[in-house]
Amino acid sequence: MDRYVVFGNPIGHSKSPLIHRLFAEQTGQQLVYETQLAPLDDFDGCARAFFQQGRGANVTVPFKEDAFRLCDELTPRAQRAGAVNTLSKQADGRLLGDNTDGAGLVRDLTVNAGVSLSGKRILLLGAGGAVRGVLEPILKENPASLVIANRTVEKAEALAHLFADLGPVSASGFGWLQESVDVIINATSASLAGELPPIASSLIQPGHTVCYDMMYGKEPTPFCRWASEQGAALVIDGLGMLTEQAAEAFALWRGVRPDTAPVLAELRRQLA
Ligand code: ATR
Repeated sequence: MDRYVVFGNPIGHSKSPLIHRLFAEQTGQQLVYETQLAPLDDFDGCARAFFQQGRGANVTVPFKEDAFRLCDELTPRAQRAGAVNTLSKQADGRLLGDNTDGAGLVRDLTVNAGVSLSGKRILLLGAGGAVRGVLEPILKENPASLVIANRTVEKAEALAHLFADLGPVSASGFGWLQESVDVIINATSASLAGELPPIASSLIQPGHTVCYDMMYGKEPTPFCRWASEQGAALVIDGLGMLTEQAAEAFALWRGVRPDTAPVLAELRRQLA
């Protein structure tokens, strides 16, 4: 049986095995997908040992940059992101690295939620690994503007500089922004601490602005709760992005794209 894993540390609560098991059932693919705890100081050794037999892997926190360095070959979007969340062993034994996070986010927004990003003013909160992974796919949708706002402004500036050739991207501090935008995407890890990036409520135009949090939980995240209170037109959490990035990986490995809707519904049911 073809073997797949998700590497992370910690990894115990990963939903990826469930998602890929549901995809495999739905598409009639024979495969095994498990979690694998990689040691913080030896991702490479752990990954190389797995790929003696294994066919593919997902990679999550904190190993996406390690996975990037390990690959023999990279897709252009992984190259740009500087991070890999999907590893695939090729027929010749070489390891291909891809990054499906941004495609997952864009698909969840544009297909599942029906929100076009073309011509929109987009605000992206955060400047860490999660943002690097989604910048190119978002810019490919041709937004009118994409502002990266971060607590540490220098990190936002560095990213804006790095992606400037792909579209109208700029950097900002949180407090500098007042004028409303069309879409706000929270890619900070502030929710993990129960916190909210300190942004002005005037950024949300009631009944118009769409708010997206890459995080999710049993309860609405602090950002989603805040966005709802401000009257955002649509408030979406990251469970759809998780499902869609997995579907992209599954399609790369197996050559068949699963239907994500029933899988997302099952995840939502289990979370509740
Ligand atoms: P990830 O891979 O999830 O992006 P990361 O690279 O550690 O993780 O980045 C975390 C992001 O969340 C950063 O943009 C960080 O801001 P700084 O660059 O200033 O550290 C942001 N962040 C974390 N906690 C935050 C908080 N309480 N308020 C606002 N931003 C926060």
